[in-house]
Amino acid sequence: MISQHTIQQILSRIDVVDIVGSFVKLKKRGTNYLGLCPFHNEKTPSFTVSPVKEIYKCFGCGRSGNSISFLMEHEKYSYAEALRWLANRYNVEVEETETSPAYKEAQQKADSLYIINSFAQKYFSDLLLNSEEGRDIALSYLKERGFNDTIIEKFQLGYCSQQREAFAKAAVAAQYNTEFLLKSGLVVNRDEQLVDNYRGRIIFPVHNQTGKIIGFGARIIGKNDRAPKYINTPENEIYIKSKILYGSYFARQAIDRADECLLVEGYTDVISLHQAGIENVVASGGTSLTSDQLRLVKKYTNNLTIIYDGDSAGIKAALRGLDLALEEGLNVQLVLIPDNEDPDSYVNKVGKEVFRDFIAQNKKDFVLFQLEVSLKDAGSDSNKKSAVVNRIAETISKLNKTEDFTKQQDYIRQCAGLLHIDEAGLNALVNKFIRERVTKQENKAQAAEANAQSENEKVIPDLADDETFSLLNKDELVERNITRALLEFGAYEWNEQQKVYDFIFGELEENGLDELIDNKQMLRIIETYKTWVQNGIDPSPKNFLYHEDIELSTLAVGLMDTQYELSHNWKEHYDGPMPTREELYKEEVASTLNYLKLRKIKRLIDENQRDLEKIHSPEEQLTLLQTHQHLKQLEIELIRNNGTVIFR
Ligand code: GTP
Ligand code: MN
Repeated sequence: MISQHTIQQILSRIDVVDIVGSFVKLKKRGTNYLGLCPFHNEKTPSFTVSPVKEIYKCFGCGRSGNSISFLMEHEKYSYAEALRWLANRYNVEVEETETSPAYKEAQQKADSLYIINSFAQKYFSDLLLNSEEGRDIALSYLKERGFNDTIIEKFQLGYCSQQREAFAKAAVAAQYNTEFLLKSGLVVNRDEQLVDNYRGRIIFPVHNQTGKIIGFGARIIGKNDRAPKYINTPENEIYIKSKILYGSYFARQAIDRADECLLVEGYTDVISLHQAGIENVVASGGTSLTSDQLRLVKKYTNNLTIIYDGDSAGIKAALRGLDLALEEGLNVQLVLIPDNEDPDSYVNKVGKEVFRDFIAQNKKDFVLFQLEVSLKDAGSDSNKKSAVVNRIAETISKLNKTEDFTKQQDYIRQCAGLLHIDEAGLNALVNKFIRERVTKQENKAQAAEANAQSENEKVIPDLADDETFSLLNKDELVERNITRALLEFGAYEWNEQQKVYDFIFGELEENGLDELIDNKQMLRIIETYKTWVQNGIDPSPKNFLYHEDIELSTLAVGLMDTQYELSHNWKEHYDGPMPTREELYKEEVASTLNYLKLRKIKRLIDENQRDLEKIHSPEEQLTLLQTHQHLKQLEIELIRNNGTVIFR
């Protein structure tokens, strides 16, 4: 793990405007910076970066975070990868320390697999290029298919010998551990013997985003109907099929430059197109696209062009991923390769220039393509046709972001034309699907809220008619406010002896207020703060913002106040200086604590009330009534003390 010292050095150099600014064009607006949100499509900027708070927030989609979470989200880095990226940028030397046993174990497992894969790749490549068997059987086959030396080297192709256990023996001799060899899928156990899994096959290493080898595809040489054409690495710690796009490591920059990602089915399609100088290409292995894969594409471009052979089963698979792709906001186009060719054979046949032109001229919108295919399928069957109408309306409804409105209207017009139906009718149908989905989402949210409410009701029944209380309770305003005050002003002075946090913790404890905080997340921040103070760790907002636990840091960012920066218009209507939250921090702390006390008193009054409803002796009755009086008095005093500061 990266040492605390290194992390501190990195954090002290981080400039959120610099980091976010390297990916998003930012303009200065007051004390903040404003740009187009990189996490959702928008035309007017609502993505705000606050250099003072060291955070970003999008007021359109609600994403927020710090420099590290930005890199994690935008570049899909892990926490450690983000730190390393920053260390590199700011020339900080990375110092490693011991890590937790569980993490270490997982890391070691992954590392062991990477190391074995790298060993295997070198072994297989060597065999392909330098052994008689490899050259005679495998290299000649690859050459015959038109692959040149450069491309074979670039993609690190290899060959696994026909002998039963040549690789297994080499790996064991090099002291690789049996458990990991089996996990890697390179060898299998046959009658207590390790034998090679890819015997007599061409080896295609599969690389991850950073170029490490996560697994292999192994192709049979020539034709053989009794064995599968390809064998792939089984799922393991590093080979997770749903997240892999073959070739993405080699295609990244080209995709970025072309602002387009070509998607093909197979390994050989990717490699042949590369050889022809078309490098913005990845392969899905012919299965339907997963959202992880689509997001990988979306990191680089919004434009996905699927290139399949005309009668491929892969098209159906790709079609299944279409709605997902639309939801991700990708523009999906399709090119069908003619004459039973696939991209590999076609580019070899017609050459690079013709291939490029063909792609450019034969791109079809995928939504319209889907419609054409299903219409052809349906023929004159009117039931089938109405199913097609429904299906296409549902697909179009997935494009329901405001920015996509024009596109949606275009689709409705074009599809209505193809279907020979009334445009207004199709429009209504699309709207029906949108409404249904919204209702479904609302129901889900309501159910979640009802759940949360019934939990509250267990503690405090029938308080719903008390407006102030339900408002406080509903918004969890009080809990958020006290947590926020602690986070932002905790280290300020309360008086000569006490810091603000001393005062807050004292008050919470003295009045038994901790237990009134229902929100587990707020409690977590408060508890973490307390532990830090006790252990002499600096509880500054910065340390929360950059907490390794992203949930905690997201919570902290969510609490931080940037919104007031946006209301500078409003400020202009005021003469003279307006007091800031900074200046009023004592009032803020006192009043939020008061509200918490008020909540406690209201609960006590309620408990007392319920007690009163039971049968009691006259003496008991009197005591309860007196308690009620006393509590009411306290409540009135508290409300009076609070004045009107609270409801900002
Ligand atoms: P060549 O026939 O060598 O040109 O390979 P190809 O990539 O064109 O193969 P094909 O079009 O038959 O299949 C496309 C992709 O589907 C392959 O690259 C593989 O990823 C996958 N695939 C094909 N056949 C098999 C198989 O038998 N098993 C597995 N697991 N995957 C396969
Ligand atoms: Mn092929």
